[in-house]
Amino acid sequence: MSARKMITAALPYANGPVHIGHLAGVYIPADVYARFQRRLGNDVAFICGSDEHGIPITIRAKKEGVIPQDIVDKYHGIIKNSFADLGISFDEYSRTTSKKHYEVSQDFFTTLYNKGKFTEEVAEQYFDEQANEFLADRYIVGTCPNCGNDNAYGDQCEKCGATLSPSELINPKSMLSGNIPILKETKNWYLPLNDYENFLNEWIIEGHKEDWKPNVYGQVKSWLNDGLKPRAMTRDLNWGVPVPLPDADGKVLYVWFDAPIGYISFTQEWAEKNGKNWKDYWQSENSDLIHFIGKDNIVFHCIIFPAMMKAHGDYIMPKNVPAFEFLNLENDKISTSRNWAVWAHEYVEEFPGQQDVLRYALLSSAPETKDNNFTWKDFQTKNNSELVGIFGNFINRVAVLIHKYYDGIVPAGDENAVELNEIAKSATEIENFLENFEFRNALSAMMNLARFGNQYLQTEEPWKTIKDNPEKAASSLFVAAQIAVGLAQVCEPFMPFSAEKLQKMFNVDQISWEQLKQEKVLIKTGHQINNAELLFSKIEDETIEFQIQKLENTKASNKKTNPKANPMKAEIQFDDFTKIDLRTATILTAEKVEKADKLLKFSVDTGVDVRTVVSGVAESFTPEECIGKQVMILLNLAPRKIRGIESQGMLLLTTKPDGKLAFVTPDVPVENGVEIG
Ligand code: MF3
Ligand code: ZN
Repeated sequence: MSARKMITAALPYANGPVHIGHLAGVYIPADVYARFQRRLGNDVAFICGSDEHGIPITIRAKKEGVIPQDIVDKYHGIIKNSFADLGISFDEYSRTTSKKHYEVSQDFFTTLYNKGKFTEEVAEQYFDEQANEFLADRYIVGTCPNCGNDNAYGDQCEKCGATLSPSELINPKSMLSGNIPILKETKNWYLPLNDYENFLNEWIIEGHKEDWKPNVYGQVKSWLNDGLKPRAMTRDLNWGVPVPLPDADGKVLYVWFDAPIGYISFTQEWAEKNGKNWKDYWQSENSDLIHFIGKDNIVFHCIIFPAMMKAHGDYIMPKNVPAFEFLNLENDKISTSRNWAVWAHEYVEEFPGQQDVLRYALLSSAPETKDNNFTWKDFQTKNNSELVGIFGNFINRVAVLIHKYYDGIVPAGDENAVELNEIAKSATEIENFLENFEFRNALSAMMNLARFGNQYLQTEEPWKTIKDNPEKAASSLFVAAQIAVGLAQVCEPFMPFSAEKLQKMFNVDQISWEQLKQEKVLIKTGHQINNAELLFSKIEDETIEFQIQKLENTKASNKKTNPKANPMKAEIQFDDFTKIDLRTATILTAEKVEKADKLLKFSVDTGVDVRTVVSGVAESFTPEECIGKQVMILLNLAPRKIRGIESQGMLLLTTKPDGKLAFVTPDVPVENGVEIG
């Protein structure tokens, strides 16, 4: 009887592209597992999509000066494409802004509400009166009570790593307006997680000590030991799924409430398109629910989401939650904000046709039990010595020799040769490892079959025996052909692109894992094979050096030479710049503005006219010091009234180390009205 496997991979936030850390720690292992389960003949739904709500998205939108929908549209597209390009075989990749998802998540909320599973709590929360918005923790900055950092966030200080709550910040300020926020009462709906402690203890702590990974089990245990508290499932925010209650204006579902429900709504979208019943996957004891996630997601998938599903009442619990640790890059933490990453979409562009190399390299350093490290040198070695040197070399020799000696027709050989057992052995090993979520071991078992084949050819030396013992040479190549086809079969979950090429090359179809374990002869005597195709090619030093240089450049641009310098503003296009009309000009006259200590009024020769400019420089210069100075002016700035005087343009200024202002001046005298750019 075939089993049903409901496999999910953590929904990536649509606030940036995916990088090798995401791939190695969630998506590639999940894909290997899903592909393998399909090969077992199981009924698989492999579901994912973009997580499009939450603060990281609104922050990114603010930073880029666009609306959140623009951000998620852009990154959903990029992410979806890179998954497809890398052969991640989702049955459905949707998004949490889909109509269906709004319905399903609101319906889930309403069910819990009607069953009385929420408590209502009124609490004081920071509110920005000018922006007229409640402030998410991330939108409050202030001084860290722990280390004195002036730029700590309401949820965390990034300098000392302390976890904070907004009320702990000294001098809190709103990031929206810069104003001091007030405390204002607001009502939200909470899920009393403490009510689920017994259930969670019994189900996980007593029930899954043996089969869940120690890192997952350990984290859950420590959460439960510390005791659970009610957690708000709604937030005062304007980006998210609206709370489906009459008195909930301006409130949305907590992103960690709506996002995991995405797994369910996307399964429904898929089921509708494919004539399936989604409940068979989510509400049937015959289904195994498996969540692939990174370690930072453990509490959400092992405590909060299960408590939600338990409260609902109709859902099965996950059978396993294989969580991965983190992958570092060149011994440094991967970071989107510092651009310290290898981006999936860039890899695909820079290494065309080499998706399996990345899949192989990342699987072999998958952070299964502890954090792991990716280096470009290591990537090169894995390609050149393992994929080219062992795997590709073996396959190539088999195909070339069969063409050379037998016109591409598989010769006769011993169908009971002991070497043929290696194929089933490898398939069984891979199966055992994968069922246990040991991806690195499974990958080695696959590579060991190639290694075995290579050594077999090396000892048999058919290129020598062909001369005086052609029957032996034929038998050797018969056996080698079986191993090659065995490899074409077992490598598919790991390296689907190469598997496809190999199957074409040997002119065979993909078979089930069961067949693979049972049938000794995978390609018969007399079978015609196609021409050898190149599977992997050597990666040269220059290619690797280019990548390392790219990272060096990132490092250099991350290094502030002036620690006080503000971070760069959002990128603009050249067209934006060309709108700005900057010119050289000369100050003709200068005088104080009455009752305004900071202002000077200038008449300025701009080359195109003589105009009046008011500037806040009186604390830095006397009028006399200014007269005759050559300056730079922003000519096409819309005129503004300052103290009743119309100021026509802006003089460019910077700040000296003593805090006084300085004019920006050309370093040699030039004519007035000359364009700057
Ligand atoms: N977007 C989250 C992250 O990247 C993961 C969400 S998983 C889900 O950490 F279950 F909530 F969907
Ligand atoms: Zn701190």
